[in-house]
Amino acid sequence: MALRVRACKLGDVVDGELRAFAVPGVTWPVIVTRVDGELYAYPGVCPHEDVELADGELTGATLTCPGHGYIFELRTGRCRHDPGLELRRYPITIIGDDVWVDLL
Ligand code: FES
Repeated sequence: MALRVRACKLGDVVDGELRAFAVPGVTWPVIVTRVDGELYAYPGVCPHEDVELADGELTGATLTCPGHGYIFELRTGRCRHDPGLELRRYPITIIGDDVWVDLL
């Protein structure tokens, strides 16, 4: 069974910008963005080391971590620099104006 939490309102998501949203019970915020009309949600921490991804740079459909500059593909979560790393994409459900993400 999924652990679904409300991350934000749809209106809080800005095209091409990383936005971080605190979720009760979760250490790192959830980051949500929209690129080319598609919503993406991820853990707010890099899978390489504990660096906050909300401070990263979004370029098209890639996210560059501010820690060591590793680049992650938004669609797949794959890391271009280390194939052993993956940024796990959270499934999103829109209910009314709310964005819900499945953490598990
Ligand atoms: S902490 Fe993100 S690339 Fe190293």
